[in-house]
Amino acid sequence: MSFRLPNRVALITGAGSGIGLESSLLFAQEGANILLCDINLGAAQKAADLIAKRSSNIKAIAFKCDVAKEQDIKNAVDEAVKEFGRLDIMFNNAGIMHPQDDNALNTEERIWDLTMQINLKGVWWGCKYAILAMRNNPTDEAKGLHTGGSIVNTASFVALRGAATPQLAYTASKGGVLAMTRELAMVHAREGIRINSLCPGPLNTPLLMDFLRTDEMKQRRLVHLPMGRFGEAIEQAKAALFLASDDSSYVTGSDFTVDGGLSAAYVTAIGEPALPPPKSLIK
Ligand SMILES: NC(=O)c1ccc[n+]([C@@H]2O[C@H](COP(=O)([O-])OP(=O)(O)OC[C@H]3O[C@@H](n4cnc5c(N)ncnc54)[C@H](O)[C@@H]3O)[C@@H](O)[C@H]2O)c1
Repeated sequence: MSFRLPNRVALITGAGSGIGLESSLLFAQEGANILLCDINLGAAQKAADLIAKRSSNIKAIAFKCDVAKEQDIKNAVDEAVKEFGRLDIMFNNAGIMHPQDDNALNTEERIWDLTMQINLKGVWWGCKYAILAMRNNPTDEAKGLHTGGSIVNTASFVALRGAATPQLAYTASKGGVLAMTRELAMVHAREGIRINSLCPGPLNTPLLMDFLRTDEMKQRRLVHLPMGRFGEAIEQAKAALFLASDDSSYVTGSDFTVDGGLSAAYVTAIGEPALPPPKSLIK
């Protein structure tokens, strides 16, 4: 059986829940050793324990990291290199959606700043320390390992489409992720470092479901979703796996959109979805 991330080392932020959790489980299943980073160490540890239970040949280490702090991110990258000898994949995925994030008139400056600190500066620092580490990756042809690596930054479809249900700071932070990713991809393209944005559609994860408290709030979004359902975190993890692996060796600087057709839609179809969503790897 061939793996898609053999001998690779991945660092994933926000690894304790949602996209980060499914990606940690999937990347481990595909042969990668992983540093699971989260501000919630307990959640990251639970995920690491699950990986250890499933695959004895994979090393998964939980690490407490607040991506709002540059030193935490530097420490996390240093830890990955110390433990595993290299860093092939950096998945800058952690992000927040603050309940008090609103329109231009109501959003307080502290909410704006907090959102930018985590969602945008955190991704910048993740890129910075990953690039420094990836430049030093030794080539080992027998193991299929090479210099450089793949950085995946989680943005959002809200950076591509306007919503009359505003979360101004969140949207602006994700637009920043897209622009920054594109530019960094150009700067580092000849170093064997690929950098792409993952643009998820609205997902059935705690981040959005905690925010959409009522059925009415959910329906307001569902009518715009061509498939008639929210996306699942595992569907993003599979796209992240493609971007992380050598399968995407000619893909860099992309706004890689995985949104169930949302960004192509005008009028959506009527009726229930014919297919059930794919199953999570968590159970
Ligand atoms: N859920 C959606 O609908 C959706 C849509 C588009 C984009 N996204 C983006 O996807 C990413 C992951 O979202 P999710 O839906 O999996 O969310 P989630 O809430 O399920 O998981 C986020 C994880 O990040 C961690 N985290 C939060 N702040 C952190 C910090 N400062 N440092 C380190 N870890 C931190 C949390 O503890 C949690 O484990 C986010 O960047 C989010 O903006 C989500």
